[in-house]
Amino acid sequence: MSDKIAYSRHGDIAVLTVQNPPVNALSQAVRQGLWDGMDRAEADDGVKAVLIVGEGRAFFAGADITEFGKPPMEPHLPVLINRIEASPLLVVASMHGVSLGGGLEVALGCHYRIAVPSARVGLPEVHLGLIPGAGGTQRMPRLTGVEAALDVMTTGRQVKADEAAKLGLIDEVRDGDPKQNGIDYAQSLLGAGAPRRPVSEMDPPAAIDWDGAFEAILARGRGQISPAWCVRAVQAGVEKPFAEGLAAERKIFMDLMATDQRQGMIHAFFSERAVGNLPELKGVEPRSLQHIGVIGGGTMGAGIATSALLSGFQVTLLEMTPEAGEAAHKRIAGNLSGALKRGKISQDKHDAILTSILTVVTNYDALSDVDLVIEAVFEEMSVKKKVFTELDRVCKKGAILASNTSYLDVNEIAACTKRPEDVIGLHFFSPAHVMKLLEIVVADKTAKDVVATGFELGKRMSKISVRAGVCDGFIGNRILSTYRTAADHMILDGASPYEIDKALEDFGFAMGPFAVADLAGLDIGWAVRKRKRAEGIDPRARDSSYADKLCEDGHFGQKTGKGYYDYSAGAKARVPNPDVMPLIEEERAKQGITPRDFTSEEIVRRYMAAMVNEAAKVVGEGIARRPLDVDMTLLFGYGFPRYRGGPLKWADIVGLPELLADMKEYQKEDPYFWQIAPLLEKLVAEGKTFDDLNKAAAA
Ligand code: CAA
Repeated sequence: MSDKIAYSRHGDIAVLTVQNPPVNALSQAVRQGLWDGMDRAEADDGVKAVLIVGEGRAFFAGADITEFGKPPMEPHLPVLINRIEASPLLVVASMHGVSLGGGLEVALGCHYRIAVPSARVGLPEVHLGLIPGAGGTQRMPRLTGVEAALDVMTTGRQVKADEAAKLGLIDEVRDGDPKQNGIDYAQSLLGAGAPRRPVSEMDPPAAIDWDGAFEAILARGRGQISPAWCVRAVQAGVEKPFAEGLAAERKIFMDLMATDQRQGMIHAFFSERAVGNLPELKGVEPRSLQHIGVIGGGTMGAGIATSALLSGFQVTLLEMTPEAGEAAHKRIAGNLSGALKRGKISQDKHDAILTSILTVVTNYDALSDVDLVIEAVFEEMSVKKKVFTELDRVCKKGAILASNTSYLDVNEIAACTKRPEDVIGLHFFSPAHVMKLLEIVVADKTAKDVVATGFELGKRMSKISVRAGVCDGFIGNRILSTYRTAADHMILDGASPYEIDKALEDFGFAMGPFAVADLAGLDIGWAVRKRKRAEGIDPRARDSSYADKLCEDGHFGQKTGKGYYDYSAGAKARVPNPDVMPLIEEERAKQGITPRDFTSEEIVRRYMAAMVNEAAKVVGEGIARRPLDVDMTLLFGYGFPRYRGGPLKWADIVGLPELLADMKEYQKEDPYFWQIAPLLEKLVAEGKTFDDLNKAAAA
């Protein structure tokens, strides 16, 4: 028998204990072990029931995702589950930790299910670009009805034991040791003469409006297809005999397995976990972190403070005046009341934070005891330098001094202190208590344990932390600035902001670049343009001033009610601002440009090419260590569609030679903007992909 399954006898019950750490994924060896275990139990004299239970953290976390994309190996999971269900013995699952995907499907193939109260179950395959592929779409609706089953499988959410029991997925919730619980439960079932109870033999549930559900779920997925296909699989289970429903489910599962979306989602799954795993930090102990200082209580500072407070840190926030301090306190209180409403914190915790865990001060000396301080003041070097000079004066030895700058030179900031090794960039994204991305900007002299502490902070704040090197805009804003420029060029050449936003929203972005600019505030881009013009723009670069005119007229986007769009009827009911196109047309006329039409496809192609080209430069220059670091930055900070995996995964899928050929075409029109990344040329010449670099970094 496989060493992944331990076989033991407890009276007339055979226990199959799964031992496949860390999360009991259903690898080939586990599947084979379960098969052999069932054979052995059925041949074992006197055995009347089989208990399946997991050792360690979980019952089963599902199919082994590392096997996806490789040739399938027998025994296949659906066949194994049918075999378990068809056993003449009574089969019981005892669940703890998570039972996800194939894990829950194994439990649904058992005749009875018991779980501890902390157990969670779910069918998260849609997060991998798939549908449940081992009977989940067929068995779950027979227990819960169609609507509840579709809710669970199309959202991929984890359902707690008590809710799962109410839905009919679990027969009994009992505290205690999962193995002992399972044995006791199986014993009581045998004692009561309980019959085998195969779910596949139960009547199918009532039908719903299948086409309506399919269309509604498809629309919700912003281009992601797998959630909608759950509907078709469930429909097959309701309309056809069990075996045919199962075959229909398998066909959809295998079709989805062959899609780019599946590749993108699985890349995102593993990259999300690899991103914080830096070989250079192996064995480096982070510094102790309990008390955090925040400087500046505007939207960003208050968001950072909120995030720190919600993660269990003590926080001291510095503002310049008592009035500003009061406003900051209010902002944080507002954020916390949102967390209270959503059940993220208890009333007691909420009150304790506001009365004793958060302190708002107006004097730098109050920061003498903090372990780490994050500055979130006005984005100007002279202001930052003043702050860091003060921090250097008051902070204790070993305290980490962090800047939340989004593009300024962290080396220059560090140089104004006597402890540059303690200085780091921690670039949060607004609203900082909501957005998942944290760019950890490592300056030339930053000590390793300071970097490790940055990652530790990110982990405790439940952020996706990405290591970035120093350059203008680091990883995210540098790439953003380039693809935004590509969009600006398309506007000059004939596309409208609305066509561009629509094309990119159809591509899967949460928002197009002009809607994003309105949300962030047009004054931000204006300030950057002014700074860059003051520093001197290369005469070969294309520039335009129509967006400045919007700002000069006081239109800063959503916060003033008008920008590229008019928000008079609310953010969701935005309409194009009629002042914008005349300004653009005036600019084109001034520059002597005859506008031409752009298809959505060309818009996406150029925009993405610009993004990939800059991303390749960022990786080539070592600003990002691996392509996956760029992918995770765009996914978690810039609304890039998860099902496409990230810009560099997208590039691999589309094909690097094809992208390079496009760029060479664009280069003929504008050789200055389309300077091709040497790394991209190199990968194409060597027949390699960005993912090859990820793999090489992991080796
Ligand atoms: N297969 C292979 N490896 C897995 C895995 C799986 N299903 N689930 C988790 N892992 C690995 C992770 O990659 C990670 O590896 P490293 O330590 O090398 O990075 C390790 O297990 C621990 O995982 P986490 O760091 O994510 O630990 P966590 O405690 O935060 O979360 C979890 C645990 C909730 C199980 C989470 O890992 C998770 O959601 N896993 C995916 C579950 C899933 O999607 N299952 C469905 C699979 S598809 C399926 O089953 C298809 C079908 O119908 C046949």
